Amino acid sequence: MLRIADLTFDSPFSLAPLAGYSDLPFRLLCKRYGACYCVSEMISCHGLTYRQEKTLEMLASTEEEQPVAFQLFGADPDIMADAAEILATFCPAMIDINMGCPAKKVTRKGAGAALMTTTGLAEQILTRVISRTSIPVTVKIRSGPDSGQINAVPFAQMAENAGVAAIAVHGRTWAQGFSGQCDRAVIAEVKQAISIPVIGNGDIISYRDGIQTMDETGCDGIMIGRGALGNPWIFTGEKKPDNISYILKGARQHLDLMEQFLPVNRMAGYVKNHISRYFKELPGSSKMRQKIFACETVKELRDTVLTETT
Ligand SMILES: Cc1cc2nc3c(=O)[nH]c(=O)nc-3n(C[C@H](O)[C@H](O)[C@H](O)COP(=O)(O)O)c2cc1C
Repeated sequence: MLRIADLTFDSPFSLAPLAGYSDLPFRLLCKRYGACYCVSEMISCHGLTYRQEKTLEMLASTEEEQPVAFQLFGADPDIMADAAEILATFCPAMIDINMGCPAKKVTRKGAGAALMTTTGLAEQILTRVISRTSIPVTVKIRSGPDSGQINAVPFAQMAENAGVAAIAVHGRTWAQGFSGQCDRAVIAEVKQAISIPVIGNGDIISYRDGIQTMDETGCDGIMIGRGALGNPWIFTGEKKPDNISYILKGARQHLDLMEQFLPVNRMAGYVKNHISRYFKELPGSSKMRQKIFACETVKELRDTVLTETT
């Protein structure tokens, strides 16, 4: 059983933070399909302290999705601590700190994966954030900055000593971005080196694969990112259905949640992107994609594409 601080989870499978995807509707969907907890999109510490409208919109949540983790990113320890204090008023069950994002807009300011090159600064961020909140703080890291500097083990030890409650390890370096092989051995090494829970992440595309990764590495939990897009069934322990009516049902459930919780201005391309993923790799998927992107309204999408007769 996965335990993080005083939280216990029946399933070890969580939804990874996915900017542009892991918003309230998708988190709720994954939770309903069995994810033990879900992590929000990364939230800027500056956006939060300036109380920018767009940032605050990202904090929409409901009781049903508890326990949820909200993820913060930034590189200034004081601002991160201020932001964590504000974040705590939105009552997440955990605050996750992003130390793995390779996107330039994040790393050029010293945040995300760049923090794996500045361990002292990373330590200050964790220490200050932890000192300002009673909510468990977790951190998400990579294997290291590049193949010549695999430092996940000492970095995780630093984080454990700073007081974090769990660590998610994506087995790729910052330099790799999202390409090349994910190194699961590094997850096993981190697990051996620390005593707080370790969550394995990277290229896990089925429940079975997740269980195998836990067996191979000894990690305590699994975090699924891209494998959950268009496939919330990944959390059920069953394969993605090949029966089109089940797939349509899942896509409609997701669409209903997006309609319920998203501001209308986020509907168009965003909705189509999520929905088209349900049909990826199915026969006729490119035709389906064309139909989805040709829809002008959500009603049209629901009534003409996501119907049994498609
Ligand atoms: C579109 C996209 C957005 C992501 N956004 C975040 C993010 O906001 N914070 C973060 O820590 N990682 C982010 N990641 C990384 C994922 O959480 C995860 O570590 C990575 O995709 C590897 O896992 P996967 O192979 O299961 O997708 C993102 C990845 C993708 C593909």
